Amino acid sequence: MRRIALLTSGGDAPGMNATIRAVVRYAINNARLDVFGVERGYEGLIKGSLQRMDSRSVSGIINRGGTILKTARCPEFATEKGLETAHEVLKAFGIDGLIVIGGDGSLRGMGELYAKYKFPCIGIPGTIDNDLGYTDYTLGFDTTVNTVLSAIGNIRDTMTSHDRACILEVMGRECGDIALYAGLAGGAETMLIPEMPIDIDKVVAQIKRNIIKGKASDIIVLAEGVSGCEELKQQIKEKFNMTIRTVKLGYIQRGGIPSAQDRIFGARCAVRAVDLLTEGKHGRAVGLKDNKIIDVDIDKALKAKREVDKEIYRIAGLLS
Ligand code: ADP
Ligand code: F6P
Repeated sequence: MRRIALLTSGGDAPGMNATIRAVVRYAINNARLDVFGVERGYEGLIKGSLQRMDSRSVSGIINRGGTILKTARCPEFATEKGLETAHEVLKAFGIDGLIVIGGDGSLRGMGELYAKYKFPCIGIPGTIDNDLGYTDYTLGFDTTVNTVLSAIGNIRDTMTSHDRACILEVMGRECGDIALYAGLAGGAETMLIPEMPIDIDKVVAQIKRNIIKGKASDIIVLAEGVSGCEELKQQIKEKFNMTIRTVKLGYIQRGGIPSAQDRIFGARCAVRAVDLLTEGKHGRAVGLKDNKIIDVDIDKALKAKREVDKEIYRIAGLLS
Protein backbone atom coordinates (compact mmCIF):
# COMPACT_ATOMS: atom_id res chain seq x y z
CA MET A 1 0.00 0.00 0.00
CA ARG A 2 1.65 3.25 -1.15
CA ARG A 3 -1.07 5.64 -2.21
CA ILE A 4 -4.53 6.11 -0.71
CA ALA A 5 -7.53 8.31 -1.49
CA LEU A 6 -10.07 9.79 0.86
CA LEU A 7 -13.58 11.15 0.26
CA THR A 8 -16.61 12.46 2.12
CA SER A 9 -20.03 11.58 0.74
CA GLY A 10 -23.75 12.08 1.38
CA GLY A 11 -24.94 14.50 4.06
CA ASP A 12 -22.01 16.26 5.73
CA ALA A 13 -21.46 16.01 9.47
CA PRO A 14 -19.48 18.08 12.01
CA GLY A 15 -16.21 16.29 12.65
CA MET A 16 -15.61 15.28 9.04
CA ASN A 17 -12.80 17.85 8.78
CA ALA A 18 -11.16 16.64 11.98
CA THR A 19 -11.32 13.11 10.53
CA ILE A 20 -9.84 14.20 7.19
CA ARG A 21 -6.99 15.88 9.07
CA ALA A 22 -6.35 12.76 11.14
CA VAL A 23 -6.36 10.45 8.08
CA VAL A 24 -3.98 12.71 6.16
CA ARG A 25 -1.52 13.26 9.00
CA TYR A 26 -1.51 9.68 10.26
CA ALA A 27 -1.20 8.24 6.77
CA ILE A 28 1.67 10.55 5.82
CA ASN A 29 3.58 10.73 9.09
CA ASN A 30 3.10 7.24 10.47
CA ALA A 31 2.22 4.98 7.57
CA ARG A 32 4.38 6.81 5.00
CA LEU A 33 1.59 6.85 2.42
CA ASP A 34 0.76 9.36 -0.30
CA VAL A 35 -2.72 10.75 0.23
CA PHE A 36 -5.15 12.07 -2.38
CA GLY A 37 -8.34 13.90 -1.48
CA VAL A 38 -11.34 13.30 -3.73
CA GLU A 39 -13.63 16.30 -4.16
CA ARG A 40 -17.42 15.93 -3.91
CA GLY A 41 -17.57 12.27 -2.94
CA TYR A 42 -18.35 9.68 -5.61
CA GLU A 43 -19.07 12.42 -8.13
CA GLY A 44 -15.44 13.53 -7.90
CA LEU A 45 -14.28 9.94 -8.12
CA ILE A 46 -16.12 9.49 -11.40
CA LYS A 47 -14.84 12.83 -12.74
CA GLY A 48 -11.27 12.29 -11.57
CA SER A 49 -11.25 15.27 -9.17
CA LEU A 50 -8.39 14.09 -7.01
CA GLN A 51 -5.74 16.31 -5.40
CA ARG A 52 -2.60 15.35 -3.53
CA MET A 53 -2.83 16.33 0.14
CA ASP A 54 -0.02 17.07 2.56
CA SER A 55 0.08 17.80 6.27
CA ARG A 56 -0.25 21.55 5.68
CA SER A 57 -3.33 21.12 3.48
CA VAL A 58 -5.29 20.12 6.58
CA SER A 59 -4.06 22.94 8.84
CA GLY A 60 -6.68 24.89 10.74
CA ILE A 61 -9.62 22.62 9.95
CA ILE A 62 -9.96 20.57 13.16
CA ASN A 63 -12.52 23.04 14.50
CA ARG A 64 -14.50 23.61 11.32
CA GLY A 65 -17.89 22.12 10.45
CA GLY A 66 -18.67 20.88 6.94
CA THR A 67 -16.02 19.15 4.84
CA ILE A 68 -13.11 20.77 2.99
CA LEU A 69 -13.34 17.92 0.47
CA LYS A 70 -16.97 18.89 -0.19
CA THR A 71 -19.66 16.27 -0.57
CA ALA A 72 -22.39 15.28 -2.99
CA ARG A 73 -25.12 12.79 -3.70
CA CYS A 74 -24.24 10.96 -6.89
CA PRO A 75 -26.90 8.66 -8.38
CA GLU A 76 -24.49 7.73 -11.19
CA PHE A 77 -22.23 5.89 -8.78
CA ALA A 78 -25.10 3.50 -8.05
CA THR A 79 -25.05 2.36 -11.71
CA GLU A 80 -22.70 -0.28 -13.22
CA LYS A 81 -21.16 2.31 -15.52
CA GLY A 82 -20.58 4.82 -12.70
CA LEU A 83 -18.94 2.18 -10.53
CA GLU A 84 -16.74 1.04 -13.41
CA THR A 85 -15.63 4.61 -14.21
CA ALA A 86 -14.83 5.27 -10.56
CA HIS A 87 -12.74 2.11 -10.45
CA GLU A 88 -10.89 3.11 -13.61
CA VAL A 89 -10.14 6.55 -12.14
CA LEU A 90 -8.74 4.96 -8.99
CA LYS A 91 -6.48 2.75 -11.10
CA ALA A 92 -5.43 5.65 -13.34
CA PHE A 93 -4.30 7.64 -10.30
CA GLY A 94 -2.45 4.62 -8.95
CA ILE A 95 -4.58 4.54 -5.82
CA ASP A 96 -4.16 1.35 -3.74
CA GLY A 97 -6.80 2.02 -1.10
CA LEU A 98 -9.82 4.24 -0.45
CA ILE A 99 -11.31 5.64 2.76
CA VAL A 100 -14.96 6.69 2.59
CA ILE A 101 -16.49 8.94 5.26
CA GLY A 102 -20.25 8.99 4.97
CA GLY A 103 -23.61 7.63 6.00
CA ASP A 104 -25.56 4.50 5.13
CA GLY A 105 -25.76 5.26 1.39
CA SER A 106 -22.09 6.13 1.12
CA LEU A 107 -21.04 2.95 2.89
CA ARG A 108 -23.39 0.98 0.62
CA GLY A 109 -21.65 2.53 -2.38
CA MET A 110 -18.29 1.53 -0.93
CA GLY A 111 -19.65 -1.98 -0.36
CA GLU A 112 -20.54 -2.20 -4.05
CA LEU A 113 -17.05 -1.09 -5.09
CA TYR A 114 -15.52 -3.72 -2.83
CA ALA A 115 -17.95 -6.47 -3.88
CA LYS A 116 -17.47 -5.88 -7.60
CA TYR A 117 -13.74 -5.07 -7.85
CA LYS A 118 -12.36 -6.12 -4.47
CA PHE A 119 -10.90 -2.63 -4.38
CA PRO A 120 -9.32 -2.11 -0.93
CA CYS A 121 -11.57 0.26 0.97
CA ILE A 122 -12.57 1.18 4.51
CA GLY A 123 -15.68 3.07 5.65
CA ILE A 124 -15.95 5.58 8.48
CA PRO A 125 -19.53 6.28 9.67
CA GLY A 126 -20.09 10.00 9.11
CA THR A 127 -23.67 11.16 9.55
CA ILE A 128 -25.50 13.27 12.09
CA ASP A 129 -28.34 10.73 12.08
CA ASN A 130 -26.69 7.96 14.20
CA ASP A 131 -28.65 5.53 12.04
CA LEU A 132 -26.14 2.75 11.34
CA GLY A 133 -26.89 -0.56 13.03
CA TYR A 134 -23.36 -1.94 13.34
CA THR A 135 -22.02 0.98 15.38
CA ASP A 136 -23.17 2.64 18.60
CA TYR A 137 -22.12 6.01 17.26
CA THR A 138 -21.75 8.00 14.04
CA LEU A 139 -19.55 11.05 13.52
CA GLY A 140 -21.40 14.35 13.98
CA PHE A 141 -24.23 13.07 16.16
CA ASP A 142 -22.96 14.59 19.41
CA THR A 143 -22.45 18.04 17.88
CA THR A 144 -25.92 17.95 16.35
CA VAL A 145 -27.55 16.86 19.60
CA ASN A 146 -25.85 19.79 21.33
CA THR A 147 -27.03 22.19 18.63
CA VAL A 148 -30.61 20.97 19.08
CA LEU A 149 -30.16 21.17 22.85
CA SER A 150 -29.18 24.81 22.57
CA ALA A 151 -32.28 25.46 20.42
CA ILE A 152 -34.50 23.75 23.00
CA GLY A 153 -33.07 26.04 25.68
CA ASN A 154 -33.80 29.18 23.68
CA ILE A 155 -37.26 27.99 22.73
CA ARG A 156 -37.98 27.06 26.34
CA ASP A 157 -37.18 30.60 27.50
CA THR A 158 -39.63 32.33 25.22
CA MET A 159 -42.34 29.66 25.40
CA THR A 160 -42.27 29.88 29.20
CA SER A 161 -42.64 33.67 29.11
CA HIS A 162 -45.72 33.31 26.94
CA ASP A 163 -47.19 30.09 28.42
CA ARG A 164 -47.00 28.39 25.04
CA ALA A 165 -46.40 25.03 23.45
CA CYS A 166 -43.94 24.52 20.62
CA ILE A 167 -43.21 21.75 18.16
CA LEU A 168 -39.53 21.61 17.26
CA GLU A 169 -38.91 19.61 14.09
CA VAL A 170 -35.45 18.08 13.83
CA MET A 171 -33.68 15.88 11.28
CA GLY A 172 -33.98 12.11 11.20
CA ARG A 173 -35.94 10.43 8.46
CA GLU A 174 -35.78 6.86 9.71
CA CYS A 175 -33.92 7.26 12.96
CA GLY A 176 -35.22 9.36 15.83
CA ASP A 177 -31.99 9.55 17.84
CA ILE A 178 -31.46 13.29 17.35
CA ALA A 179 -34.98 13.99 18.67
CA LEU A 180 -34.68 11.43 21.45
CA TYR A 181 -31.26 12.35 22.85
CA ALA A 182 -31.67 16.12 22.50
CA GLY A 183 -35.19 15.87 23.91
CA LEU A 184 -34.01 13.86 26.92
CA ALA A 185 -31.07 16.19 27.56
CA GLY A 186 -33.23 19.29 27.13
CA GLY A 187 -36.12 18.10 29.29
CA ALA A 188 -38.61 18.21 26.41
CA GLU A 189 -42.15 17.13 27.29
CA THR A 190 -42.59 14.80 24.31
CA MET A 191 -40.32 13.16 21.75
CA LEU A 192 -41.89 11.75 18.60
CA ILE A 193 -39.66 9.40 16.62
CA PRO A 194 -40.20 7.26 13.52
CA GLU A 195 -39.36 4.02 15.33
CA MET A 196 -42.41 4.35 17.60
CA PRO A 197 -45.99 4.61 16.30
CA ILE A 198 -47.52 8.03 16.86
CA ASP A 199 -50.90 8.34 18.56
CA ILE A 200 -52.30 11.88 18.34
CA ASP A 201 -54.78 11.22 21.15
CA LYS A 202 -51.89 10.36 23.44
CA VAL A 203 -49.95 13.46 22.39
CA VAL A 204 -52.99 15.62 23.13
CA ALA A 205 -53.64 13.86 26.44
CA GLN A 206 -50.02 14.55 27.43
CA ILE A 207 -50.38 18.26 26.57
CA LYS A 208 -53.56 18.45 28.68
CA ARG A 209 -51.85 16.70 31.60
CA ASN A 210 -48.97 19.17 31.40
CA ILE A 211 -51.40 22.10 31.58
CA ILE A 212 -53.09 20.57 34.64
CA LYS A 213 -49.65 20.06 36.23
CA GLY A 214 -49.12 23.79 35.82
CA LYS A 215 -46.32 23.58 33.26
CA ALA A 216 -45.67 26.99 31.72
CA SER A 217 -44.37 25.60 28.46
CA ASP A 218 -44.56 22.39 26.48
CA ILE A 219 -41.92 21.34 23.99
CA ILE A 220 -42.55 18.53 21.55
CA VAL A 221 -39.42 17.41 19.70
CA LEU A 222 -40.50 15.88 16.43
CA ALA A 223 -38.25 13.83 14.13
CA GLU A 224 -38.90 14.77 10.49
CA GLY A 225 -39.57 11.11 9.62
CA VAL A 226 -42.76 11.16 11.71
CA SER A 227 -44.34 14.21 10.09
CA GLY A 228 -43.75 17.89 9.39
CA CYS A 229 -44.24 20.32 12.29
CA GLU A 230 -47.09 22.20 10.58
CA GLU A 231 -48.91 18.97 9.81
CA LEU A 232 -48.60 17.81 13.41
CA LYS A 233 -49.77 21.18 14.68
CA GLN A 234 -52.92 20.87 12.54
CA GLN A 235 -53.57 17.33 13.78
CA ILE A 236 -53.28 18.47 17.41
CA LYS A 237 -55.44 21.54 16.87
CA GLU A 238 -58.22 19.42 15.36
CA LYS A 239 -58.46 17.62 18.73
CA PHE A 240 -57.58 20.48 21.09
CA ASN A 241 -57.70 24.09 20.06
CA MET A 242 -54.70 25.75 21.63
CA THR A 243 -51.83 28.05 20.69
CA ILE A 244 -48.90 26.11 19.27
CA ARG A 245 -45.79 27.57 17.72
CA THR A 246 -43.55 25.59 15.37
CA VAL A 247 -39.83 25.64 14.61
CA LYS A 248 -38.17 23.64 11.86
CA LEU A 249 -34.50 23.68 12.77
CA GLY A 250 -33.26 22.51 9.35
CA TYR A 251 -29.64 22.79 8.26
CA ILE A 252 -28.54 24.64 11.39
CA GLN A 253 -28.28 21.10 12.77
CA ARG A 254 -25.79 19.91 10.19
CA GLY A 255 -23.20 22.68 10.50
CA GLY A 256 -21.23 24.12 13.36
CA ILE A 257 -18.09 23.64 15.40
CA PRO A 258 -17.58 19.92 16.05
CA SER A 259 -17.69 18.82 19.70
CA ALA A 260 -14.67 17.27 21.41
CA GLN A 261 -16.42 13.89 21.20
CA ASP A 262 -16.76 14.13 17.42
CA ARG A 263 -13.17 15.26 16.90
CA ILE A 264 -11.84 12.47 19.09
CA PHE A 265 -14.09 9.82 17.53
CA GLY A 266 -12.99 11.01 14.07
CA ALA A 267 -9.32 10.74 15.03
CA ARG A 268 -9.79 7.23 16.43
CA CYS A 269 -11.66 6.06 13.33
CA ALA A 270 -9.06 7.63 11.03
CA VAL A 271 -6.17 5.82 12.67
CA ARG A 272 -8.00 2.46 12.56
CA ALA A 273 -8.99 2.99 8.93
CA VAL A 274 -5.41 3.68 7.82
CA ASP A 275 -4.10 0.76 9.90
CA LEU A 276 -6.63 -1.59 8.30
CA LEU A 277 -5.60 -0.53 4.82
CA THR A 278 -1.89 -1.02 5.52
CA GLU A 279 -2.52 -4.35 7.28
CA GLY A 280 -4.39 -5.64 4.24
CA LYS A 281 -7.74 -5.94 6.07
CA HIS A 282 -10.08 -4.49 3.48
CA GLY A 283 -13.81 -4.08 2.80
CA ARG A 284 -14.53 -3.13 6.39
CA ALA A 285 -16.44 -0.42 8.25
CA VAL A 286 -15.03 1.18 11.38
CA GLY A 287 -17.33 1.97 14.30
CA LEU A 288 -17.80 2.04 18.07
CA LYS A 289 -19.02 -0.66 20.46
CA ASP A 290 -18.83 -0.32 24.25
CA ASN A 291 -16.60 2.71 23.72
CA LYS A 292 -14.04 0.65 21.81
CA ILE A 293 -13.21 1.21 18.14
CA ILE A 294 -14.27 -1.81 16.12
CA ASP A 295 -14.13 -2.85 12.49
CA VAL A 296 -16.74 -5.01 10.82
CA ASP A 297 -17.01 -6.67 7.42
CA ILE A 298 -18.86 -4.14 5.23
CA ASP A 299 -21.62 -6.60 4.25
CA LYS A 300 -22.27 -7.51 7.85
CA ALA A 301 -22.16 -3.85 8.87
CA LEU A 302 -24.80 -2.90 6.32
CA LYS A 303 -27.06 -5.80 7.27
CA ALA A 304 -27.02 -4.91 10.97
CA LYS A 305 -30.44 -3.67 11.98
CA ARG A 306 -30.58 -0.34 13.72
CA GLU A 307 -32.74 -0.35 16.83
CA VAL A 308 -33.83 2.47 19.09
CA ASP A 309 -32.23 2.37 22.55
CA LYS A 310 -35.20 1.22 24.63
CA GLU A 311 -33.63 2.39 27.89
CA ILE A 312 -33.13 5.93 26.61
CA TYR A 313 -36.67 5.94 25.23
CA ARG A 314 -38.09 4.73 28.54
CA ILE A 315 -36.15 7.25 30.64
CA ALA A 316 -37.12 10.10 28.31
CA GLY A 317 -40.79 9.15 28.69
CA LEU A 318 -40.55 8.87 32.47
CA LEU A 319 -38.93 12.23 33.02
CA SER A 320 -41.02 14.38 30.74
P1 ADP B 1 -25.57 9.14 3.14
O1 ADP B 1 -24.26 8.53 2.85
O2 ADP B 1 -25.46 10.37 3.98
O3 ADP B 1 -26.57 8.13 3.64
P2 ADP B 1 -26.88 9.03 0.53
O4 ADP B 1 -27.85 7.99 0.93
O5 ADP B 1 -27.37 10.16 -0.27
O6 ADP B 1 -26.15 9.73 1.78
O7 ADP B 1 -25.70 8.30 -0.25
C1 ADP B 1 -24.58 9.02 -0.71
C2 ADP B 1 -24.14 8.49 -2.03
O8 ADP B 1 -23.74 7.12 -1.91
C3 ADP B 1 -25.21 8.44 -3.12
O9 ADP B 1 -25.42 9.66 -3.74
C4 ADP B 1 -24.62 7.42 -4.09
O10 ADP B 1 -23.60 8.00 -4.84
C5 ADP B 1 -23.99 6.43 -3.11
N1 ADP B 1 -24.90 5.29 -2.87
C6 ADP B 1 -25.97 5.25 -2.06
N2 ADP B 1 -26.58 4.03 -2.11
C7 ADP B 1 -25.87 3.29 -3.00
C8 ADP B 1 -25.97 1.96 -3.52
N3 ADP B 1 -26.92 1.11 -3.10
N4 ADP B 1 -25.05 1.56 -4.44
C9 ADP B 1 -24.07 2.38 -4.84
N5 ADP B 1 -23.93 3.64 -4.39
C10 ADP B 1 -24.80 4.10 -3.49
O1 F6P C 1 -27.43 13.91 6.70
C1 F6P C 1 -28.64 13.26 6.94
C2 F6P C 1 -29.74 14.21 6.70
O2 F6P C 1 -29.41 15.31 7.47
C3 F6P C 1 -31.15 13.76 7.06
O3 F6P C 1 -31.46 13.74 8.42
C4 F6P C 1 -31.95 14.75 6.26
O4 F6P C 1 -33.24 14.33 6.03
C5 F6P C 1 -31.17 14.84 5.00
O5 F6P C 1 -29.83 14.59 5.36
C6 F6P C 1 -31.33 16.10 4.24
O6 F6P C 1 -30.24 16.34 3.42
P1 F6P C 1 -30.25 17.05 1.99
O7 F6P C 1 -31.25 18.11 2.00
O8 F6P C 1 -28.84 17.53 1.89
O9 F6P C 1 -30.54 15.97 1.01
